[in-house]
Amino acid sequence: MSETELRELSWDEAITLASPHPYVLGVTADAAGKPNALGLGWWTICSWEPPMMAVSLGKRRYSRQALEYCRELVVCLIGEEHARGAWICGTKSGRKTDKLALAGFTTVPSLVVKVPTIAECVLAFECQLAGELETGDHILYVGKVVAIRGAAGSPKHLYSLHYRKLVAISATGEVSLAVPHEG
Ligand SMILES: Cc1cc2nc3c(=O)[nH]c(=O)nc-3n(C[C@H](O)[C@H](O)[C@H](O)COP(=O)(O)O)c2cc1C
Repeated sequence: MSETELRELSWDEAITLASPHPYVLGVTADAAGKPNALGLGWWTICSWEPPMMAVSLGKRRYSRQALEYCRELVVCLIGEEHARGAWICGTKSGRKTDKLALAGFTTVPSLVVKVPTIAECVLAFECQLAGELETGDHILYVGKVVAIRGAAGSPKHLYSLHYRKLVAISATGEVSLAVPHEG
């Protein structure tokens, strides 16, 4: 069978082939006010007017519990230079640790929402929860974007290849390997 001929694929193979997926960090805060960020590949813009975004969170994630509590989320795009910290946010839980500190990130107050913004991000969408839909083992949360901030310049930001590695791509299309898979 040739490489270009269509054949049936597994879900895993299909997600690999559909890569790269833009990778962001979703910041929440728990009942004690502790901020935390998880890595998200399943997110999308879902309304132009009003601006809205959707993120899909695994039911067992600590971040999901935090989002249910705080009802706010800051979606942060991260530049290539912070790829290793961004990878930590996608591979370690903040349930028992200060994951943001572990990942080398600091926070600044957001413009509108109480949940903070990652100071090192290049673009931040502040969202207030507007709805949710249970989907299998995840819950799709829809948020209304209430404020946006970005850094000047055009850095390369992060994309995931399946859930195995991150690459960085600039707005003009230059690609580099940001975090190779390590075991
Ligand atoms: C590339 C990549 C993409 C991910 N995308 C999602 C996602 O869209 N939704 C989700 O719930 N978890 C996703 N994860 C997994 C979480 O980021 C991960 O389980 C994290 O440790 C959860 O953190 P928490 O326990 O602090 O909430 C992704 C991980 C990686 C590495």
